[in-house]
Amino acid sequence: MTNAYQQAYERSLKDPEGFWADAAKDIHWNKTWDKVLDDSRKPFYRWFTGGEVNTCYNAVDRHVEDGRGTQAAIIYDSPVTDTVRTITYAELKDQVSKFAGLLRGLGVDKGDRVLVYMPMVPEAVVAMLACARLGAVHSVVFGGFASNELATRINDAQPKVIVSASCGIETARVIPYKPLLDHAIDLADHKPAHTVVLQRPQVAAAMVAGRDVDWSEADKAAPAECVTVAATDPLYILYTSGTTGQPKGVVRDNGGHMVALKWTMKNVYNIEPGQVFWAASDVGWVVGHSYICYAPLLHGATTVVYEGKPVGTPDAGAFWRVISQHKITALFTAPTAFRAIKREDPNAELLQKYDMSSLKALFLAGERSDPDTIKWAQTNLKVPVVDHWWQTETGWAIAANCLGLHEFPVKPGSPTKAAPGWDLQVLDEGHHQCKPGQTGSLVVKLPLPPGTFYTLWNAEQRFFESYMAEYPGFYKTADAGMIDEDGYVYVMSRTDDIINVAGHRLSTGQMEEVLASHPDVAECAVIGVADQLKGQLPLGFICLKAGVTKADDDVIKEVVKLVREVIGPVAAFKSCTVVKRLPKTRSGKILRGTMQKIADNQDFKMPATIDDPAILEEIDESLQSIGYSKARTEAVE
Ligand code: COA
Ligand code: AMP
Repeated sequence: MTNAYQQAYERSLKDPEGFWADAAKDIHWNKTWDKVLDDSRKPFYRWFTGGEVNTCYNAVDRHVEDGRGTQAAIIYDSPVTDTVRTITYAELKDQVSKFAGLLRGLGVDKGDRVLVYMPMVPEAVVAMLACARLGAVHSVVFGGFASNELATRINDAQPKVIVSASCGIETARVIPYKPLLDHAIDLADHKPAHTVVLQRPQVAAAMVAGRDVDWSEADKAAPAECVTVAATDPLYILYTSGTTGQPKGVVRDNGGHMVALKWTMKNVYNIEPGQVFWAASDVGWVVGHSYICYAPLLHGATTVVYEGKPVGTPDAGAFWRVISQHKITALFTAPTAFRAIKREDPNAELLQKYDMSSLKALFLAGERSDPDTIKWAQTNLKVPVVDHWWQTETGWAIAANCLGLHEFPVKPGSPTKAAPGWDLQVLDEGHHQCKPGQTGSLVVKLPLPPGTFYTLWNAEQRFFESYMAEYPGFYKTADAGMIDEDGYVYVMSRTDDIINVAGHRLSTGQMEEVLASHPDVAECAVIGVADQLKGQLPLGFICLKAGVTKADDDVIKEVVKLVREVIGPVAAFKSCTVVKRLPKTRSGKILRGTMQKIADNQDFKMPATIDDPAILEEIDESLQSIGYSKARTEAVE
């Protein structure tokens, strides 16, 4: 007897058009599609061509029409401002349509871009939905990025309007956002016609007359109706780290995106409409797009916008308080949040204060879940703990324990099995299929399912070259891993220079570009080293130019400051060391992998192509002087 997961999985690969056409019945279409899967321009597949929809209608208006008007759509819980506020679906419709009216009055039309640079306040979700309502394309930028990163995105997306707030609040620190935004606009070549600024009571933003508009003006705006768009039209651009300083603008469509995300709510997360789903992430990340904003609302569930941290707002019981107060059915967060809680409250004593009976499952993603964290969560929460693997590019889980279909036993360290829609395979260097248990490149046979990206903004060739060219007919995930005899997937490491810091994806190549721009730096390398809390942390090596007389420590302070200024605090770049030389192969390639192994005090094989093995000893000594390599006291995996 096959279980529901097996049936769904097999059908999704054998008959993808039938499978997703069935799922599409849960979406309201203004016009049904001509073709479920358009494969006329491989590998640029498109879903639901000819279909017409509006994402905001499906996420908001439709539920009001169906009688959910008085149900909570959003619960805003902000321990940093001591606020809890509920927004019903009817109120959300009112707020979104008025804000869309304001945007329209500022000249935003179908296809125009709107950049959103906001803290975790419900207005961020309102702004995203208002764009969807108008058929405009939003691009949300995470608040922890600096002005320079914001400027890069402004230049690429060319927004007509930027929506922001006067400040964000990081635990007890108020961070004025508007000066960062003003500086970004100064740096950018493209200038938005307007900004809309939410004035928060903690900080009043200075406004530029004629350009900056107060959010409260939306109250006076005429509500805008939903604009019909093609299912294949872009809904949003979300920039993510690539291997260079130029981020990749992942583009998601309207139709396929809705179909896939709505489907996941029941089948992956086992959530019913009306239940409360909490993704403790940030709207600036893909998890926030998919599971704070779109999926829960498309499903008629209640979503939580949480402005706080797992610890320190006020203590390591913060998540338990939110779960019990709002009767959360499922929590989705990054393992790093649980490591932070476990570190502060190892015996989960604070958990005893709260009624956790509503919680049915915990979902973890964003980085590899370490077995200790999974075990700790299982033991204390006594609910299924589901590790699931996905990427900004994919928009939803490639591999998961799909609780709504069939609950498989958990193998710690594995995000369970490929989700329906994903023909996941492991290929070796010669592009042959690996045997079960053999590690290789994790690739997905095309077409990717609906809801995934279909191009990179303004960079179709880069989309092809980065993801589709190396393994023709497959999507390269850039993760290495294996699939065991039972079909369980294991994701081991990235095959590129991306590192994962507190569930945030960062490019070491980009950090190297910043270090190299310092006038005293001749050469540099950045690697990701293991960290007990954040999973990985960046660590820099710099070689100084001949004749530099400054103390090493002073240059280090300057480069640390520079990375914070150019990329932002989110880079968490705090450790750096000065070395005389970098270890390289005879062809001049820096041996970053070997440096990482030395830093983490792991065994390594002397690379056969190394130019001068003596340099590794210098690297080792330098690392020991800053507490890495053999000087590491932390037990790292
Ligand atoms: N605006 C401005 N600054 C921000 C920011 C924002 N939205 N988000 C983070 N930062 C800053 C932080 O204040 C910190 O600054 P600091 O160096 O001055 O202390 C820096 O960016 C690094 O942030 P982070 O890596 O998140 O570290 P942290 O110590 O503040 O918090 C955790 C660590 C583990 C508690 C936090 O990362 C967390 O809760 N993560 C789990 C949820 C999650 O983010 N998931 C994402 C994918 S699902
Ligand atoms: P992002 O695009 O920020 O979501 O980061 C995607 C990357 O995070 C993936 O390519 C993986 O390297 C890593 N990742 C995300 N989820 C998991 C997981 N459950 N297990 C292992 N790695 C993960």
